[in-house]
Amino acid sequence: MRSAIQIERSAFLLHPLAMLFMLLAVSTAAADDGYRLWLRYDQLPVAAAAKYQPHVRFIVVAGNSATMDVVRAELVKGCSGLLGHEVTLADTVSGEGVILVGTPAISREIAAFGWSRQLEALGKEGFVIRSARIKNRPAIVIASNGEIGALYGAYHFLRLLQTLKPIDRLNIIDRPRLQLRVLDHWDNLDGSIERGYAGRSLWNWSDLPEKLDPRLTDYARANASIGINGATINNVNADARILTAEYLRKVAAIANVFRPYGIRVYLSPRFSAPIEIGQLKTADPLDAEVAAWWRNKAAEIYQLIPDFGGFLVKANSEGQPGPRTYNRTHADGANMLAAAVMPHRGIVIWRAFVYDYKPGYDRAGAAYTELQPFDGKFAANVLLQVKNGPIDFQPREPFHPWFVAMPRTQVIPEFQITQEYFGWSNHLVFLASMWREFLDSDTGAAGRGSTVTKVIDGTLYHQKITGIAGVANTGTDRNWTGHHFAQANWYAFGRLAWNPDLPSQQIANEWIGMTLTHDAKAGRDIARIMLESHEAVVDYMTPLGLHHLFWGGHHYGPAPWWDKEKREDWNPVYFHKADDRGIGFDRTEKGSDTMAQYHAPGREKFASLQSCPEKFLLWFHHVPWDYRLRSGARLWDALAFHYQRGVDWTRAMRKTWEELKGVVDEERHRAVAQKFAIQERDALAWRDACLLYFQTFSKRPLPRGVEKPVKSLEEYKAKSLLEIDSFNRKVDKSSNQ
Ligand code: GCU
Repeated sequence: MRSAIQIERSAFLLHPLAMLFMLLAVSTAAADDGYRLWLRYDQLPVAAAAKYQPHVRFIVVAGNSATMDVVRAELVKGCSGLLGHEVTLADTVSGEGVILVGTPAISREIAAFGWSRQLEALGKEGFVIRSARIKNRPAIVIASNGEIGALYGAYHFLRLLQTLKPIDRLNIIDRPRLQLRVLDHWDNLDGSIERGYAGRSLWNWSDLPEKLDPRLTDYARANASIGINGATINNVNADARILTAEYLRKVAAIANVFRPYGIRVYLSPRFSAPIEIGQLKTADPLDAEVAAWWRNKAAEIYQLIPDFGGFLVKANSEGQPGPRTYNRTHADGANMLAAAVMPHRGIVIWRAFVYDYKPGYDRAGAAYTELQPFDGKFAANVLLQVKNGPIDFQPREPFHPWFVAMPRTQVIPEFQITQEYFGWSNHLVFLASMWREFLDSDTGAAGRGSTVTKVIDGTLYHQKITGIAGVANTGTDRNWTGHHFAQANWYAFGRLAWNPDLPSQQIANEWIGMTLTHDAKAGRDIARIMLESHEAVVDYMTPLGLHHLFWGGHHYGPAPWWDKEKREDWNPVYFHKADDRGIGFDRTEKGSDTMAQYHAPGREKFASLQSCPEKFLLWFHHVPWDYRLRSGARLWDALAFHYQRGVDWTRAMRKTWEELKGVVDEERHRAVAQKFAIQERDALAWRDACLLYFQTFSKRPLPRGVEKPVKSLEEYKAKSLLEIDSFNRKVDKSSNQ
């Protein structure tokens, strides 16, 4: 039953060098730099491992391909590590405790089960995991119609072990609900990352294509383990050079690493590339030469990367070139590119983040006004990518009205995993709760329960291609994401892309078990920190529907007074509209009326001051300072209480974290504790700066229970939180605003 690989390995284990390695591995187990993410595979608690052992002794993987080699390597490594004994590879099924993985096309044993209909219905990424009998012996079978499905099944099985789930009577049937599950990297060709807070870009352009950083493989593994199947590897504020032959060879090298893991590469082209690298005089999408240039470019790309995903385009947005530059429409631009990739089954993802400035307009309604007239006019291989909220990844926004406005257009949401407006990689915030709120929002489009999820998974409008994108938070920092807990947001994005109905609690529990600890009490404490974090950050940054109160440019820290941007709609004062009467953006009929873009009955609910959810109050209404909220508190007092509550939370959670010393390894515990100190200091500054500034309008005292500000308003205005050097932060120089 032992394969050649196995025999070699056991011989090596007796070698003195191997013993030294093992010793080292044990002695460093206490410290953890976070590099392994949720794929740590350290030994499980003894009792759990003992339960699993009889079921997991041999791995049999049918088929010879790069993907099935990954399945083999991952299962052997994962099971051996978790169980603390060597789980061996075998060529055939004989003996007990076999995990059999494969597709019916390759494995005779799997074909013999007669599951082919079901597997077909699950598609190439779906799988079953079943307790079965082979040759009259119990076995666990991981089967799929596609090799990538088998890989996903293998990771799912490992997750069962990592999260201590029973495996004695398995009957799991699973498949992704959304087709495209893509990470968007805002990585520049010089190695910097726009809005990146975890080091430099993972793509080392000067080394490519010859030298492949092993980290590329680890990135692909991590993504595959949570079902992410695409990566747009360059910034949407694109550099045309990415499409030159020189760079395409480098991109192809990355695509080759990703392929066995089921990850397709996408690129962000610059709309004016035909001029910049093609020597044409125009980039007009209706110009025949321009269209031919893109067709040839697409053919060149597919020659190098046969499974290239397609283009993600930011056009006529924040200064980027686009079809409007030539007096053409967004549909003209998108459809021209779509025609270029169509013969290769590629797609075009057109970003809906467009808000051409007009004096006196409401930025929240701009994308709708500009693009809604083109509903039904986009080609079959075009998708519109829309941010979850109408403004820009704010700590809290209502869902974008787009998700009901374009029934004849394929729409996919864009999340921001990187924490541009969430204290970068210094604040702990678990974004699953916010994404859950968005996905569960009732659009009202087809009666009650017409949630955003049902729009994007195709249930409501029968969209053919479905998907979701997340702006990545990864970089070259050893722990990938800067803050150890920011890894959980990468994880959560993948899990929700796979199943947009997953509860945040489940995602948190999985991640904690896989990444931090199996201690039940500690697990509960950590889950609580994570699950409360989003509301807490909203409390100390932008409560009650406030938005965009951030310091200009870098967006770190409060600056509600900010009014110096060249565009009015980039200034906090434009968004909060505080004056002597009250505060908030009136989006009702009496104001900008962008509320009309929502569907009834949600629209009516938002429209009335009485029924508007208080978390969105100042998003939709300009409210008098003395207005009584449902709690009975006046608006000014309630605002102050929210800010105070946010600060209190950071203090309490910092203490809870301190108490977890010894449960979580020292290295990560210390790193998180240091971040908590920054978060508490920042929360305090948010509270004080915002309340002091708004007080200049409300002219009311702080209510009892709200602490006196630490510094004066002038001091907060003089220096952004980034300039306080004691915390030694890396400044994000790339910014549009
Ligand atoms: C935000 C962000 C920019 C980014 C833009 C976008 O405005 O600050 O850095 O380019 O979103 O999504 O295109």
